[in-house]
Amino acid sequence: MRCAGTILILAIFYVNSFIQDARACSCVPLQKRLFYCNAEFAVKAKVVNEQRWPFPRDIRVYMIKTGGGKLLRTLKGNFTNVDLTKVYTQSKSSTCGITLEQDKVYLLTGHIDASKCPHRLSIVLCDWIQTWRTLSRTEKTFVTKGYLNGCP
Ligand SMILES: *[C@@H]1O[C@H](CO)[C@@H](O)[C@H](O)[C@H]1NC(C)=O
Repeated sequence: MRCAGTILILAIFYVNSFIQDARACSCVPLQKRLFYCNAEFAVKAKVVNEQRWPFPRDIRVYMIKTGGGKLLRTLKGNFTNVDLTKVYTQSKSSTCGITLEQDKVYLLTGHIDASKCPHRLSIVLCDWIQTWRTLSRTEKTFVTKGYLNGCP
């Protein structure tokens, strides 16, 4: 079965932290690089727009473009059976949701929600998410291939 998958430990961790502290999203302070090493996926993506997502209301969905040619591309992860046209986040920053701006190109990192079919790209405020043009040259090198040797 292509879509069989277990709910990720990471997902459980985030859900737990929502329940424990409903008002504030707190992130473990780590270096960006370590976040990258821990991330299940990384893509260079352009945000096309925000999709209306009526139910459940606490989910926000952005349509993205990635994984095409050299410009917008996948950087890290196993994208088998993953929907690369959308990213999912919580609707509020208090529950670690993140706001993305339309038409901007981002480095997006996060976890792959394998409990859904197709699998979903899921991001939170704590992930390393940054507009591509504000990354330093060193960071760009790291996220494209440097991490292969640079992660513990
Ligand atoms: C990628 O993920 C699929 C299922 O989502 C799995 O069957 C496959 O073994 C994975 N490949 C690697 C290289 O981990």
